[in-house]
Amino acid sequence: MLSSRFRCWVLISLCFSSIALGQWNSIGDVSSFKALSTREIEFVAENAKVRLTVLTDGIVRVRMTHQVDFAPDSSWAVIEKHWPDTHPEIVDKPEKVTISAGQLSIVVSKRPLRISFLDNQGTVLNADHPSKGMAWSGKEVRVWKTMPENEFYFGFGEKAGRLQKKFTSMTMWNSDIPAYGADTDPLYQTIPFFYGIRNGKAYGIFFDNTYRSSFDMGKEARDQFSFGAEAGELNYYFFPGPSPADVLRKYTELVGTMPLPPRWSLGYQQCRWSYPSEKRVREIADGFRTRKIPCDVIYLDIDYMDGYRIFTWNTSSFPNPKGLISDLKGMGFRTAVIVDPGIKIDEKYHAYQSGLKQDVFLKKPDGTVYNSKVWPGECAFPDFTDPAARTWWGNSFESLVADGVRGWWNDMNEPSVFDVPSKTIDLNVIHQDNGLQTTHAKNHNVYGMQMTRATYDGVRRLLPNERPFVLTRASYAGGQRYSAAWTGDNVSSWEHLRMGVSMCLNLSISGQPFVGSDIGGFIGYPSGELFARWLQLGVFTPLMRAHSVINENNKEPWEYGDEFTNANRETINLRYTLLPLIYNLMYEASQTGIPAMRPMLFEYPEEQAFTWTDNQFMFGSDLVVAPVVSEGVTSRTVQLPQGVWFDFWSNQRYSGGKEITVEAPLNRIPVFVKEGAIIPTQPVVQHTDERPDNPVTFSCYPTSLQSTRMYYEDDGISFEYEGGKYSKRSINQWRSSKATTVTLSKKEGTFATTRTLIFVQVIGINNEPLRVDLSGREISQATTGDTPTQWWSYDDQKKIVTICAKESPEAITIRVTHN
Ligand code: GLC
Repeated sequence: MLSSRFRCWVLISLCFSSIALGQWNSIGDVSSFKALSTREIEFVAENAKVRLTVLTDGIVRVRMTHQVDFAPDSSWAVIEKHWPDTHPEIVDKPEKVTISAGQLSIVVSKRPLRISFLDNQGTVLNADHPSKGMAWSGKEVRVWKTMPENEFYFGFGEKAGRLQKKFTSMTMWNSDIPAYGADTDPLYQTIPFFYGIRNGKAYGIFFDNTYRSSFDMGKEARDQFSFGAEAGELNYYFFPGPSPADVLRKYTELVGTMPLPPRWSLGYQQCRWSYPSEKRVREIADGFRTRKIPCDVIYLDIDYMDGYRIFTWNTSSFPNPKGLISDLKGMGFRTAVIVDPGIKIDEKYHAYQSGLKQDVFLKKPDGTVYNSKVWPGECAFPDFTDPAARTWWGNSFESLVADGVRGWWNDMNEPSVFDVPSKTIDLNVIHQDNGLQTTHAKNHNVYGMQMTRATYDGVRRLLPNERPFVLTRASYAGGQRYSAAWTGDNVSSWEHLRMGVSMCLNLSISGQPFVGSDIGGFIGYPSGELFARWLQLGVFTPLMRAHSVINENNKEPWEYGDEFTNANRETINLRYTLLPLIYNLMYEASQTGIPAMRPMLFEYPEEQAFTWTDNQFMFGSDLVVAPVVSEGVTSRTVQLPQGVWFDFWSNQRYSGGKEITVEAPLNRIPVFVKEGAIIPTQPVVQHTDERPDNPVTFSCYPTSLQSTRMYYEDDGISFEYEGGKYSKRSINQWRSSKATTVTLSKKEGTFATTRTLIFVQVIGINNEPLRVDLSGREISQATTGDTPTQWWSYDDQKKIVTICAKESPEAITIRVTHN
């Protein structure tokens, strides 16, 4: 028998749960609708209004308000743009309104108002959940969607754990959580954008709401997913695919792509908390050059400053920063410094004085400057949502720029503070927010992004013809326009190495292609093996940076004994060998949003086998990279997609569509190359500026017929490519049983390289060629002692013909006759 106390408890809980269920206000039936313009339709429902805007064939915006009218429109993510005219067709029936916009139909059912997105074959891509749809409760807004059983979810920006996010829930609230785990959520960045992929077809949704938001991907109920925020508008964009790349191209059309980075930022970067003095920095620089381990960037962490005051130097440990930085530059290193947003409250400190004078600091509702503790003690915080504060911040870089600093590491910008339980700025603090004067609750998630914007724009004003390199820990959707990102304070563990793959992949396909994790792990001490394996992964993460926490043993690549030093040197050499490819992939990302690091499913959405695959990935569309991510392992399995693949190291041929096992000794990361690929590489250099005349080699992998790839280059540092000072050519190969022809088209653009030679490698030629012709004239085989500039050679063991030709802006044709 139930006790009366228990019965009473059941009654109370039933009563509460019905209140909880009833809390959500539903939108009701459509009562009328009207076109506001050729692209915009407003539906008036019983309890709310919904606006659908067709931006272009493929991007549809949905807004819902239960107020009398929509709030003024604003977004930190969406770039201002004039979209081409579009005239969707509207068909009104008693039960529904259908809006046809090119490849997409939007069906609005009237009783109650529910939205479905259909492709032009009539397949429902995504639909509001019939029983819930869009709703609100107090200030909270949310939409529930139907979740098909065979649909999977990716993206969501920076999220720990595995790549695939079905049956999980996530929160978006920029948070500083050192030593996070696979289940820690939220983390440092907010990118409320995701993909649904089903039967090889993808769509995307971007929920552009900066308040604390959340996504429940089937955790609450297995037949539905939902997203919403604590306040603000239910405001999202829908992107049909059909491919994941189509979704990403459309998303980055809306929020922008990464600018082309300076080439030096794609070299190896060395960091630690902290290289405490000029002496130690010089030792580190010498350490790289004497050991012949390439490196381009050395970072200075917080101890370079005077009492952690931003824009100052600790003059006892760094007595001559300008001299140091100029010597480092002479050795081929760029210097990057950390900058945190907290400005020390100190009447004698120039940044604090000028910040007060120019009224750039965040204020409490009572109008006084807000303060909280970070590294320097009590600090004031610039309001980066205020254009004047952004200009002030950007101008403050003048002296560091004059000292020669070129890399700008933006940290603690979630923002993170030490002295309150919430670990962030008080939610009632007021931001300018483009004149809207709103609270930190609304602006928290864009604080880091707007700091990187102020940094990027400021440095660009100071050095108008140099590409800024900004790195950030916190950001919001669209932040790629200003900054690269790293995955925060990770741990020296194999699990974190694995998360370095999945986190960077999800960030990459969320519009942020310039990503990496702290190599070796930030907190803790990696074994030589873990460091070496992580470094190998780092070759294939666009940001290749090693870092370490304070008070930990040294973790530079030579700190683990000769065997590891040699392996690490080979690994970093590989990065520099592949730089022409990496630069091209970053160029592609800057143009189209398509990142260098791609999940297998992103390239092969129809191959179901890849749905859960997150320890191997595509680098560009031609390489499968399979890092070793477990201890004591010297071989691993690799799932090759359909088609023909070649082992990067041995050129061994594999038929794809299956799993293979390959050797992975300590100095080797398994990599496979797609048939028909043309991979540009270069001889190793110690830093990216070392040899502007470095020859490039185009390695042509066998193809059954023909293949084409683009090759892009420019000066790697300035913005002159925007005015046409770049060079672009297409490279084609045709293969028949008798001959292979490789053509390099006439170059487009005005960039003239100082290189004099190029090499073409034709892979998979079984016998020595009968003859080789270069632009119509036979050239001779290289012989020792003879050094003509145009020749060919044959490696019988590797089955490769190498052709050396003079670089030229004109078309070059190579014909290898073989049998
Ligand atoms: C934060 C950063 C870390 C940095 C440290 C000291 O923890 O995430 O990278 O080294 O602060 O500045």
